[in-house]
Amino acid sequence: MTQPSTEAMSRVAEAALEMVQDGMRLGLGTGRAAEALIRALGARVAAGLKVSGVATSQRSDALARSLGITLATIDELPELDLAFDGADEFTEGLELTKGLGGALLRERVVASAAARFIVLVTPEKCVERLGTRAPIPVEVVPFAVGAVERGLRRLGAEPTLRRAADGSVYRTDNGNPILDARVAPIVSPRELHAAIRELPGAIDTGLFLGMADVVLVGAEAVERLERR
Ligand code: A5P
Repeated sequence: MTQPSTEAMSRVAEAALEMVQDGMRLGLGTGRAAEALIRALGARVAAGLKVSGVATSQRSDALARSLGITLATIDELPELDLAFDGADEFTEGLELTKGLGGALLRERVVASAAARFIVLVTPEKCVERLGTRAPIPVEVVPFAVGAVERGLRRLGAEPTLRRAADGSVYRTDNGNPILDARVAPIVSPRELHAAIRELPGAIDTGLFLGMADVVLVGAEAVERLERR
């Protein structure tokens, strides 16, 4: 998979920050695009901007704290103004695949708490149909890995248990494994998301449908796709 350039990430992060005003409560996503946003936000905070945030992963939490950004839990800040995050695929209709970074569940919780969900991507992630370039991550309770694996196969997917760099079973910040489900480009993402969520032991999928309000696509210039 091609790597987005650091410059494109910074441009898209700067464009996203134009939406941030003093006093706002922000959701802070996970991954390279979200980290570019957190770094740019940290620079604004150092220059006097006052915001507070909820992080979607321990990694983003640590980065934001190291930059002096005030953080709270989702229970302390249950209503957010904006949530920022990356995505692994997006369509022109603003549907997303997320979760290659493993934070999908917290990302959905935080994005759902925000008045507006802003997604930061680079153009190569644009697909006509979700599932074209990324698998669909499925977070699963440890007891049910086998059962969900069999269920995903029945749904026509090809699941792989995600492993950490050292070969051990990958665990999310919630302590759960992830099954990365390869599917043919998805005709009906809503039906697939619902069918996977119906599998006992499956907690969530990386299909984020009808959630994004704005997708900022960073290239030489930043293109803005907005929900109609
Ligand atoms: C994290 O769990 C993911 O949902 C990321 O937002 C997604 O994988 C995009 O990450 P990058 O910005 O690193 O491509």
